[in-house]
Amino acid sequence: MLDNRIYEHPILSFDRGKRIKFFLDGKELFGYENETIGAALHANGITMLSKSLNLNRPRGFFCGIGKCSSCLMTVNGVPNERTCILPLKEGMDIHVQEGKGRAINVRKDDKKVITEKCDVLIIGSGPAGLSAAMETTNYGLATIVVDENPIVGGQLIKQTHRFFGSEKEYAGVRGIDISPLILENCNRKKLKFYTMAGAFGYYPEGVAVELEDQIKLIKTQKVIVAGGAQENFLIFENNDLPGIYGAGGVQTLMNVYGVKPGNRALMVGSGNVGLIVSYQLLQAGVEVKCVVEVMDRIGGYYVHAAKLKRQGVPILLRHTIEEAIGNEKVEGAVVRDLESGEKKCFEVDLICIAVGLTPSVQLLQQAGCKTVYIPELGGEVALHGECYETTVHGLYVVGDTSAIEEASSAMLEGRIAGISVSLDLDLNLDIDLNLNLNHLKATKEALSKREELRKELHEIRDSPFGKKIVAGEEKMKKLVEAYYEH
Ligand SMILES: Cc1cc2nc3c(=O)[nH]c(=O)nc-3n(C[C@H](O)[C@H](O)[C@H](O)COP(=O)(O)OP(=O)(O)OC[C@H]3O[C@@H](n4cnc5c(N)ncnc54)[C@H](O)[C@@H]3O)c2cc1C
Ligand code: FES
Repeated sequence: MLDNRIYEHPILSFDRGKRIKFFLDGKELFGYENETIGAALHANGITMLSKSLNLNRPRGFFCGIGKCSSCLMTVNGVPNERTCILPLKEGMDIHVQEGKGRAINVRKDDKKVITEKCDVLIIGSGPAGLSAAMETTNYGLATIVVDENPIVGGQLIKQTHRFFGSEKEYAGVRGIDISPLILENCNRKKLKFYTMAGAFGYYPEGVAVELEDQIKLIKTQKVIVAGGAQENFLIFENNDLPGIYGAGGVQTLMNVYGVKPGNRALMVGSGNVGLIVSYQLLQAGVEVKCVVEVMDRIGGYYVHAAKLKRQGVPILLRHTIEEAIGNEKVEGAVVRDLESGEKKCFEVDLICIAVGLTPSVQLLQQAGCKTVYIPELGGEVALHGECYETTVHGLYVVGDTSAIEEASSAMLEGRIAGISVSLDLDLNLDIDLNLNLNHLKATKEALSKREELRKELHEIRDSPFGKKIVAGEEKMKKLVEAYYEH
């Protein structure tokens, strides 16, 4: 029986839980209770998960975080389930879905709507969301964090490398170890978590969040959106074949669930993400044939490129992918040398795309926030001021959703927004509020802490990599001024 699971890893060990049985199109297969359906299928060598809407083309896993719709399958009769984030359960009846699928066995009774109240709702439990929660809970505000993924931590849960960035924001610590450290600094008495809980609508009555068995309508005074970003795609022939993954999708499979996404890989993009994920593929026992880069220089840090070069992985500058070869799944890739025009073929079963991210602004747009296109910040972003409040009063945006940057800045932004929200709600501190003096002192301290964090944010952007963000922030400032002038 094919088993693509990783059993030996230099850094990670995988707690898979109990072995369970499930069915794919009637065929009995085995997986583990701590795996998602997508991971269990990959472990069994199955990469085709659905067929496309119009042309019936095979589709597979791409983003691994519930954002691209490439992994929709019919599960227990319910169509369009995102199998990359849906945990596997004993006896599940799973079907490769053709087009939209058919609702064979959808529950007749709607999910119950249950109302819940809090002071602050934070959407997304990555570094930005958790850092915001650290501030709001320590200022005594009842805070709920929701995340549509099964595990808390956003992108951090798959980063096995030691982080670059600011020392105060855990540089030198492995990404996987950062969220527990942030959580240690939260006031847990004021914090409630819901995982597998996707926020899907912002209404005057509250924010609607879908859980497995209910809809929660969360009534709250402030909402901080820290929903991260989605991976960019590239146009080339056959770019929709199963076996073509975003870099984060590859990380989800191999670093979160311990499943090899393939055996021979081609990486597209030599930014930090492409370089780091290539090295992580090697650590997982996957051969990396090469990294292709359209520019005439390596995009990421030298230290990451040097690690790959030491392992003999070529980085081909001024090269791009032209075609994926295969019918039901990737069997090879054609790469073009942009200087000579020469074509090179690689026998690979995995093509990894690491060409950047785009902020996930859909929920903000649904809420009525004004969005603007600022390429330096990653594309369409919500107009926001220096406290990260959007044009909808009480609705804030931080982290990769506000601009594509890095975890250090996401944490600082989260904290600044968390303090701003707390100040706005008048610091619900566990001090005797009758003593105005104490309250005044706490307000002053919060203001000066916020200023310190802003300074730190400027400092970490004072680098060649930060220049783009500074330019984007300048544009943002002007657009905000123009917006409020009218
Ligand atoms: C390979 C790689 C290496 C990296 N290395 C570094 C590094 O060394 N140093 C560094 O500083 N940065 C690094 N980064 C970047 C860093 O991981 C991100 O910038 C950071 O995680 C962004 O944080 P965030 O909280 O904004 O979003 P995320 O970490 O993406 O978290 C967003 C969370 O929101 C949830 N969510 C989204 N929509 C909803 C919804 N509607 N309802 C409920 N939940 C939702 C998602 O499930 C997710 O858990 C790296 C990134 C990658 C991919
Ligand atoms: S939504 Fe599941 S792979 Fe993207």
